[in-house]
Amino acid sequence: MLKKIGVKLLLSYFVLLIIAFSVSSNTYNFLSRRYAINETKKQLSSEGLVIAKLLTNVPLNSNSIRGKLAGKTVIKAAERFIEADLIIINDEREIIYRSIENLDKKTVLKLVRVGSTAPIGYVAERIGITDRNGSVKGHVILFAKLNNIYGLNRLMRGTELISIITAGLVALLISLFFEKSLVSPITALTKKIDKYSDTKQLDSNPILTGDEIQHLDERFIAMTKSIQQYDESHQRFLQNTSHELKTPLMSIQGYAEAIKDGVIKGKEMDEGLEIIIEQSQRLKGIVEELIYLTRLENAEEKLILMPTNLKELVFNVCQSIKLLAEEKNIAINIEINSQIEIPCDSDKLHRAMLNLLSNGIRYANSNISIRSVVESNQVRLLIQDDGSGFKMNEEYKLFDRFYKGERGSTGLGLSIVKAIVEAHAGKIIAYNAAATGAVFELLLPTK
Ligand SMILES: Nc1ncnc2c1ncn2[C@@H]1O[C@H](COP(=O)(O)OP(=O)(O)O)[C@@H](O)[C@H]1O
Ligand SMILES: [Mg+2]
Repeated sequence: MLKKIGVKLLLSYFVLLIIAFSVSSNTYNFLSRRYAINETKKQLSSEGLVIAKLLTNVPLNSNSIRGKLAGKTVIKAAERFIEADLIIINDEREIIYRSIENLDKKTVLKLVRVGSTAPIGYVAERIGITDRNGSVKGHVILFAKLNNIYGLNRLMRGTELISIITAGLVALLISLFFEKSLVSPITALTKKIDKYSDTKQLDSNPILTGDEIQHLDERFIAMTKSIQQYDESHQRFLQNTSHELKTPLMSIQGYAEAIKDGVIKGKEMDEGLEIIIEQSQRLKGIVEELIYLTRLENAEEKLILMPTNLKELVFNVCQSIKLLAEEKNIAINIEINSQIEIPCDSDKLHRAMLNLLSNGIRYANSNISIRSVVESNQVRLLIQDDGSGFKMNEEYKLFDRFYKGERGSTGLGLSIVKAIVEAHAGKIIAYNAAATGAVFELLLPTK
């Protein structure tokens, strides 16, 4: 019947119910008691005043039998209107009259004694009886048993018990209902998750509860999709990697076997050995770049950020690539504000710039320009060459691992550039220049 959540729901409902009832019934009891006592006191004193007034002309002397009798007649007449019990005493504290006989001595004493509080379980009021001259000649003491006053409260408690039982039953029904609407979507989601983790198959029926469970379901679906995407890209990466490694390995193997078998000799053999060396270097390069890229993406390569002068950094990169540029007759113009300082890991940014410039030298005709535009909180760095630029839509694939176009090499350079720029909280995009050539635009934070 009830599952764990249902039981929890029911229990909390009951606890709440009992707390609410006990608080309300205690408050009610307390307030109603006070009210009842106050009201009774008021009643007692007004009744007492009536009796005291009736007794103004009646002597309360114990010796006066006539007085006693006359008094009693008056009192008996008055008692008809009074619900409480009463005792009348004279100024010598002799009891002239009492409406009930079976009261224990202690209670009577407490009632009669001046200044004493009412005996436990009673409410009492004492009113002086004055004669015509205004001097006190005795007292009327009216009293009522509290039990009689609280009769109402007992009735109330009975009603409360019935309401607790009724509310409890309603609570049971409500929690059964809630359990159904709460637990069944959770069960459905659990099944979905189990199915996915067992078979990698996503049940795409959405859970439409309109609450947190629906949100959870949506997040779960989004998560599985990104896991799938990650799996696919990982798969692709492995395939690409093995393909890229295989090509140089095959040619190394081919030449090595040919040399060993004596198929190629002399000058041809020398060329073969050259190719083996070249391809081994290429393999080493790919592996090194892959390792570096993986370390960057897994944040294993920690950035050491230091304020660095951008112009100096770019100048150093150009120095290191100068020979290559001269060899190809390519001029590099630097137009960078010499004041710009950016927080960066200069080794890594150097590596990124080197990648961009060596690509530029490969594709430029005669010229590469590097410009900077200072903006609030960032610097825009533009690296432009006068080559033939990118082919249709090529600019969207450039940064993918192993993507290489015509005359490309490993296809990992721009992935590394992007990873480095992003590790600096920067951005990089590529597009064709209006006239001719490729533009790489970097946004780097200056703070
Ligand atoms: N300045 C450029 N002009 C034209 N094409 C470029 C330029 N820079 C990069 N590319 C294209 O982007 C591809 C990827 O570059 P990169 O990731 O550095 O790999 P790689 O240099 O090993 O080929 C290159 O093969 C080339 O097709
Ligand atoms: Mg490159």
